[in-house]
Amino acid sequence: MARKTTISIIKCDVGSLAGHHIVAKPLMTVGERHLKKAQEKGHINNYYVFNAGDDLELLMVHEKGEDDPKIHQIAFDAFMNASKKAQSLKLYGAGQDLLKTAFSGNIRGMGPGCAEMEFEERASDPIVVFAADKASSSAFNLPMFHIFADPFNTAGLVIDPQMAGGFKFDVLDMKKNRSVVLKCPEEMYELIALIGTTPRYTVARVWRARDDLVCATTSTTKLSLIAGKYVGKDDPVAIVRAQNGLPAVGEILAPFMHSYLVEGWMRGSHWGPTMPVGLKDSKCTVFDGPPRLVALGLQICDGQIAVDDEGKPLVSDLFEDPAFDMARREAQEYAANLRRMGEFEPARLSAETMEYTTLPKVLEKFEKRFKKA
Ligand code: F6R
Ligand code: MG
Ligand code: MG
Repeated sequence: MARKTTISIIKCDVGSLAGHHIVAKPLMTVGERHLKKAQEKGHINNYYVFNAGDDLELLMVHEKGEDDPKIHQIAFDAFMNASKKAQSLKLYGAGQDLLKTAFSGNIRGMGPGCAEMEFEERASDPIVVFAADKASSSAFNLPMFHIFADPFNTAGLVIDPQMAGGFKFDVLDMKKNRSVVLKCPEEMYELIALIGTTPRYTVARVWRARDDLVCATTSTTKLSLIAGKYVGKDDPVAIVRAQNGLPAVGEILAPFMHSYLVEGWMRGSHWGPTMPVGLKDSKCTVFDGPPRLVALGLQICDGQIAVDDEGKPLVSDLFEDPAFDMARREAQEYAANLRRMGEFEPARLSAETMEYTTLPKVLEKFEKRFKKA
């Protein structure tokens, strides 16, 4: 059996400094400490801790496969202790995403988001890891379509014979908890028909069609469906493999030259424009946003993230680049326009989605005053 490597990114809102805008440094330190210990004990090969707004992101590389109870436990324990630290500092929303506090083998369904990918390493395996804050679980539907199915985005679909045959998309129906695989280019229109309905359908995984090589995975946690009410947005993560018969890193990043609208933003109740930013700007300020996206570039090497001479993971902060200034500018413009509409649809999410928020409570008291018209 060939040796396989697994990338796991597991994230959780454990509480924020000053509202819901950023992970405070001491909480990042708790994450670091847990993963360092896990590395020393040989459970993981190496790791990288970062934040997307108020979400603590634990990126781990190991050889235990997907859905491994030990790996999930490591993340869960780190989040529990970071939440305790947040509580001790009276930070805001401490432990917000930990909907269940007794671990039973898998972190999925407990609140934290999780994307994992196990694969046999190629001669060189470039990876892009994405993380979003103030965005719902389908926030990567549109870029995933551009990256793996749109020849106007990905030149390789036209030029590279290794991509002939296209890509297959695993689409999750979050409402009915079922999934379907669609193949592009043949089923491109039907794919858009499904994943354009972002409140319901999420691209969970992508494979290269000709050999089923896994290319991308995303976290599909829908917090409101776990909790039955609004408890914060899903703030998804994604892992994408690049180059040599897969979309180039530049093709993976090209969709982010423009801002696009996602569900989330203030109180998880508004359409908000995505703003791709470097890690230093990964904080949600204006109207608790605009929804931020960060992207990290790395290489997988013999079961770990390739490291420098001191053993530190080599990670490139991909959106820290003037090439994304236009998207940031667009995001500001969309944001200003949408905010001008206040609480009127379509700036505010549809009534169906608002059912999961505190809005119905506001309207409850008028129920008796309605008269038959
Ligand atoms: C969005 C988010 C924030 C809060 C908002 C109100 O995911 O977390 O926009 O919803 O700041 O927060 P509370 O109700 O905690 O004061
Ligand atoms: Mg929060
Ligand atoms: Mg968040």
